[in-house]
Amino acid sequence: MNMISQKSAVGEAHSKIILFGEHAVVYGKSAIAIPFPLRIRTKINEIEGDTTITSLLYNGSLKDAPKEMNGLCECIKETFYILKRPCCNINLEFESEIPMGRGLGSSASAATSIVRALFEYFNESLSTDLLYHLVSLSECYAHGKPSGIDMMAVTSENPILFRKEKGAVDIKDDKEFYLVVADTGMIGGTRIAVEQVRQKQEENMERVNHVLNEINSITEEAREAIISGDSKKLGMLMNENHIRLVELGVSNQLLNHLVDNALENGALGAKLTGGGMGGCMISLAKNLDHGRLIGQALLQAGAKRTWHFSTKTQEIYKQI
Ligand code: MEV
Repeated sequence: MNMISQKSAVGEAHSKIILFGEHAVVYGKSAIAIPFPLRIRTKINEIEGDTTITSLLYNGSLKDAPKEMNGLCECIKETFYILKRPCCNINLEFESEIPMGRGLGSSASAATSIVRALFEYFNESLSTDLLYHLVSLSECYAHGKPSGIDMMAVTSENPILFRKEKGAVDIKDDKEFYLVVADTGMIGGTRIAVEQVRQKQEENMERVNHVLNEINSITEEAREAIISGDSKKLGMLMNENHIRLVELGVSNQLLNHLVDNALENGALGAKLTGGGMGGCMISLAKNLDHGRLIGQALLQAGAKRTWHFSTKTQEIYKQI
């Protein structure tokens, strides 16, 4: 790769955690997501020739990128098109703390950081609507027909209540909570999980719609608990949400085992987060120190890594 100038730009985005309402959100129900302080950074440098990518997954020309990167490649090409620049003469280098395919919004974060970096590089201002348009191109490849919550959550600095037809509303006056995130180490299957829920709904419309409505009520109650700082209630609602996700068939043995383990270690509540069928689970701790203990227990119980953090300070600690 031949750098031809010192011209460069950087775009960043954080990841997200869905606290309540995943899957139900696809059917127009409410969901709550919060920013998660793992970040991805895209650095752009001027080079000679084709646009190239430097990443852990792939190094080489944009046009030969593997199909796993189709969504990001579409997003890059469309961004060049909108910026009215030829798609060449740059290298995009990705540095990510966000594990891929774990329900933490890595694809939406990657696309967001790319679009931000490209607009920065060409010195153009980027409107929020245009950012959503470009990121959603990539998200449709990753998830089929996404609800849009991932994209909203990775571009927000606050907890959000999201509904498909209403978009995202900040949850103001949220209190501090302590969360533990555990990675099963298994790539989650969001696309397959969404499809499976759809099939279940077709087979048993009445029951599945009832469960989706129950998740909606749980999410609405959780919003109140987040504002009032009622961590006991919030934990209980997480457990209730997890039971509904199990019924929808999107959990698995390891996720359920980690949920039980967190509760045995005094967590106020626990559930899977994101698409499920692998990926991550979350649990609610009493404080950061309790979060560390729950994290250690989860590692012993089979988690590949854990993070505990405060929702207010975004102070984050990783254990492996
Ligand atoms: C994925 O992070 C969340 C799901 O609800 C899918 C979506 O909202 O598009 C499972």
